[in-house]
Order: sequence, then structure tokens, then C-alpha cells
Amino acid sequence: MIAVNADRLNQRLQYLGQFGQAPEGGVTRYALSLEEKTATETVAGWMQEAGLEVRRDTAGNLFGRLAGRQPGPAVLTGSHLDSVPNGGDYDGPAGVLTALEVVQSLREQGLVPEYPIEVVSFIGEEGSRFPHGLMGSSFLAGTFPYHELEEMVDRQGTRLVDALRAYGAQPEEVGSARVSPGTYKAYVEVHIEQSGLLEARGLPVGIVSGIAGMRQARGVIRGRAEHAGACPMDLRRDPMPAAAEVILEVERAAKESGPTTRATVGFVQARPGASNVIPASVELSFDIRDLDADRRDACVERVRQFFLSACERRGLTGEWQVQHTSTPIHCHAAIVATMEEAARSLGLEPFLLPSGAVHDGANVAEFCPVGMIFLRSRDGLSHTPDEYTAPEDIAQGARLLAETLWRLASHA
Ligand code: GLV
Ligand code: MN
Ligand code: MN
Repeated sequence: MIAVNADRLNQRLQYLGQFGQAPEGGVTRYALSLEEKTATETVAGWMQEAGLEVRRDTAGNLFGRLAGRQPGPAVLTGSHLDSVPNGGDYDGPAGVLTALEVVQSLREQGLVPEYPIEVVSFIGEEGSRFPHGLMGSSFLAGTFPYHELEEMVDRQGTRLVDALRAYGAQPEEVGSARVSPGTYKAYVEVHIEQSGLLEARGLPVGIVSGIAGMRQARGVIRGRAEHAGACPMDLRRDPMPAAAEVILEVERAAKESGPTTRATVGFVQARPGASNVIPASVELSFDIRDLDADRRDACVERVRQFFLSACERRGLTGEWQVQHTSTPIHCHAAIVATMEEAARSLGLEPFLLPSGAVHDGANVAEFCPVGMIFLRSRDGLSHTPDEYTAPEDIAQGARLLAETLWRLASHA
């Protein structure tokens, strides 16, 4: 068994939690923010200490490479350091730090892999700031909508290109962050599970069978702002009741679509946003996912049609704009088999489960085979300050990652 330093790993995880502590609780570490930058610089420092060859690509993704006996192709492993607003300490950092721990442990024990192992920390995975999640990996895969690069802004109006520049990336050169097939032989990400399957089965870790694909859209319903007290009920062009109808339809559409469909309205904004003003507009976010792309697309289409017809029926105008789509993927059979073998060698049950959350692997699959390891989450919670994975489960995940990476990096 390859030994890992579980104390160092868990201490680093706790340490990173300080970057972006939100007054209302949890961690808010948006894409390309000072908080993401500081956390990433901290990890870059740990990579240096571990003796890795550290570099950034033009998009700001961080890499730390442990050399192998052969020059390549390397095995890639890692995750992200950004978070949702008021998120937890584990979604993302658990994957970056287990990856770093494994390569550092290998190096300290003088274990040289046949092929290099490279740790990656992707920028902006969550999509909580700019309307494009999985951002860092989309530059590697070439799936970023480059024609939108110049116009993309966050909700405060900050341009993505300016944020990239402030982060130290080179937006004019992001095209060169693209990775060609053959550069990496495999990608493995450790991530907290984010649902309760492992906990229900009493298992510390699991092996991911596939990653759901999501489509995110922005809907704006425009009506007419008027006095809330004076304007009679039947003369209003109020976008809020239409928004309410649409939100209920989102819930219905997902429930009727099937057990693997998820649909969420997580952001609602009325403008101008005052209790005594009928809103001029209401903006809604739509996040619709499934492991099956056709079923996901059918659910999106049902919601879109309902949205447009509700607007028309109420004399309002509706604007629907798809912002981000990720493709569902199956984890690579050979990597899954390697993980199963690695799990058995550690006396762990090789339990397979799907991921309802999206991950950078969905993009990485464009240029190399992908596998994922899940760690048990307490109460299945994630994207909340209550997110928690026990130190011993993180250690087990690191051991499973070590055995997996070692095997993957040992042959061509
Ligand atoms: C990322 O965590 C996502 O699934 O939205
Ligand atoms: Mn994540
Ligand atoms: Mn997340």
C-alpha cells in the first residue's frame, strides 16, 4: 500500500477554508476572484515545496508535475478551488489536495512512476460568477464558446477578459491552453459525493460510473413597472406571477421526466426590486440536468415552451438564452476497472455510483479517458456551509487515488 500523509492533507484542507470566509457562513470563493487567486497561490507554494514542476497555462489553470521515467503521456489528476456562494470547504479542494498529497507522498518515498503524474487546479468550475462553469477545463478541451469571450460579463458587469487579466491569465492567448489528444493518458478526479448513497451504504468511498450533463439558461420576463397600490389587478403587466407559474412548471417537468432528471431555479431577481413597485422585469436562472442528454433536452424544451407561452398569455415578453451546456459522460471502462482493482487491494468495496453534479471531467473527456472517485458526504450535503467529509474518508480517498494513479502511470 502506498502511504499518504493524512494529517498533512486534512490540515491543508482546513487551511484553505480561510480564503473566502463569508460573513453569512461558509466559503464564497468565486471564479477569478482574489480569494480563488490566493487559494491557488497557496497550493502552488505547496506544489513547489513538494518538488513538483509548477506552471500555469494561459487561462490561469495551475499544474504541478511529478516526472516519470518516461516523458509522457502523463496522468492528470485534480479538481478546482472556487466555490458557490456560501459553499463548503470540500467541493473542489478535496480533489486538488488529495492529488497533491499522493504525488508528494510518492516523491517522499522515492517512488518514481513510469509516466508523469500531473496535478491540476482548474479555474472557475462552479459557474457561480460568470455564466460558464467548468471554465478552466473548457479552455483545455477547446469547448469554451470563444466567440463570447469578449462580451462575457458577471452580474456586476465585470468583463471576463478583465477578470482573467487581473488573475494573471492571458485572455488573448487562451486558445493555446487547448490540449491535444494524446497529451494525457488518463484523468482522475477525487470529489465529495454530494448525495447520500455512500453514507446510506456505510462506505467511505465510491467509484463514479458517469457524470450527468447540464444545461443552464437565463430567462428574463419583462412587464411594466407601476405603483403597487394604485394599479388595478386586471390592468397590470406584472412579470412576477408568470415567473411563479414557470418555477412550478420547472418542478413538474423534472418530476415527470424521470428519476435522474433534476431541474432548479436557483436565482431570481426582480427589478427594480421594491415592495411597492410592480416589477419591470424578473430574471430567473434554469439549471436542468440528466445522465441522459435526450431526456435532459426534452425537459429543457418543455420548460422553454411553457416559459414563452406563459409570457405570451399574460401579455409579457420573454427572453430565453441558453448559457452553458455540458455533455453527460460515462467514465472510462478501463479506468473504472483499474479503480475497482485498486479498491479491492485496499480492502474497500468497489461500489459504482453516478454523479448528478457536473465536473471538469465532462470537458476533459474530450481529450483523454476520465474516471472519478467519490468520498462520503455527511447527510449527502454539498453547496452549503454544512458540507462535511470526515478526515478518515478523505484519507481513504487519497489511498485509493494513490493506488489508481500508480497503476495508470505504470504502463503505456
Ligand atoms: C457543480 O458543482 C455543479 O454540479 O453545478
Ligand atoms: Mn466540484
Ligand atoms: Mn460544486
